[in-house]
Amino acid sequence: MTLRYRAAVLHQAHTPLEIETIAAASIAPLDVLVRVRAAGLCHTDLEVIDGSLRYPMPIVLGHEAAGVIEDVGPAVRHLKTGDHVVLSWNPHCGHCYCCDRGLPILCEEYLAKGPRAVQFDGTCKARRANGEELKHLMFLGAFGEYCIVQEQQAIAVPADIPFDRACLIGCSVMTGVGAVLNVAHIGHADTVMVIGCGAVGLSAVQGSRLAGAAKIIAVDIDEGKLALAQRMGATHGVHANREDVAAAARQETAGRGADVVIEAAGNATAFRASVEAVRPGGEVVWLGKIDVNHEVNFRWGALMQEKRIRRSSYGEARPARDFPMLARAYLEGRLMLDDLITQRIPLDGVNAGFSALREGKVIRSVITFG
Ligand SMILES: NC(=O)c1ccc[n+]([C@@H]2O[C@H](COP(=O)([O-])OP(=O)(O)OC[C@H]3O[C@@H](n4cnc5c(N)ncnc54)[C@H](O)[C@@H]3O)[C@@H](O)[C@H]2O)c1
Ligand SMILES: [Zn+2]
Ligand SMILES: [Zn+2]
Repeated sequence: MTLRYRAAVLHQAHTPLEIETIAAASIAPLDVLVRVRAAGLCHTDLEVIDGSLRYPMPIVLGHEAAGVIEDVGPAVRHLKTGDHVVLSWNPHCGHCYCCDRGLPILCEEYLAKGPRAVQFDGTCKARRANGEELKHLMFLGAFGEYCIVQEQQAIAVPADIPFDRACLIGCSVMTGVGAVLNVAHIGHADTVMVIGCGAVGLSAVQGSRLAGAAKIIAVDIDEGKLALAQRMGATHGVHANREDVAAAARQETAGRGADVVIEAAGNATAFRASVEAVRPGGEVVWLGKIDVNHEVNFRWGALMQEKRIRRSSYGEARPARDFPMLARAYLEGRLMLDDLITQRIPLDGVNAGFSALREGKVIRSVITFG
């Protein structure tokens, strides 16, 4: 019998998502059927709605999700019905040129299929009521009551982490914490600056605390977010519209600049500030993004002096290793996820949730499914 469920479908950029009843495909041998219990609204979904990130449509957005395994294909080995899982948006083949070099985020199959917005086996796993195929954002498409993904994308986590907290691990928390713990090299006496304190940046602030940074300078243009950053471990706050960000970094570091700068704002001003604020020989990790066809200008001198600049997707995630670690950090009180959730909303509140994100009013709105 065909499984039918409600999902938020985007038909065209600059239009609202529409809540529709759609039909799931049958699951392939390596697939799992996940009953989605919570899904966060990430800035990346917003970029698709606002047209700066282009995908084929109609498409189901949503790539930060947690739920319960409802069914498994015959070749699935490590998951069973009832397991609580967080979903990963980086399936990879495990044996291409980049997988062999330890770079699953550059997996050739992942990169080839991603822009087509199909699932990892190359097919679409849901159709509209009229039979039209639906695309899936980032191999997930989690703004629906169900989602069919490959086994490797569903990572079991302890059942005592609530779904609305757990879902955040799937994108913003993994990206922000991972940028610090996996990508950057932070020593105990180091000063880290985090530019942009949305869910990704606040996770980077927490990653810096977990890594033992001596000073953590949070930068944003919203006082509420700066206050939250300080609750999460920032030792200093800088309002980017009122202070010179690079001067603030130098002031805290005897004139050198920050040892590590994590950019999580996603605009040209923040990209420029990041390289100005880092010390000679320091590390910059860019997490934010803008339209890939736009240009960003830099003062050449700001790029000199042995600075290492890395643009990272997903904070070098190894989901099977990192998601359970992040869930444990939450359960042990070391990782604050509760305060990343500004509001819980029903599926049909999704458009209002994106308006709030666009206006900078929220950290995360999380869709909760009953
Ligand atoms: N690299 C990845 O894998 C990955 C994953 C998720 C999101 N992202 C990107 O990371 C960025 C942040 O995502 P988010 O969901 O946290 O977004 P968000 O909109 O919630 O957060 C962005 C924050 O940056 C602040 N900001 C804006 N301009 C600023 C400036 N000039 N200086 C300082 N702060 C400024 C905003 O006030 C806001 O708090 C986005 O660009 C998003 O596309 C990247
Ligand atoms: Zn995301
Ligand atoms: Zn590969």
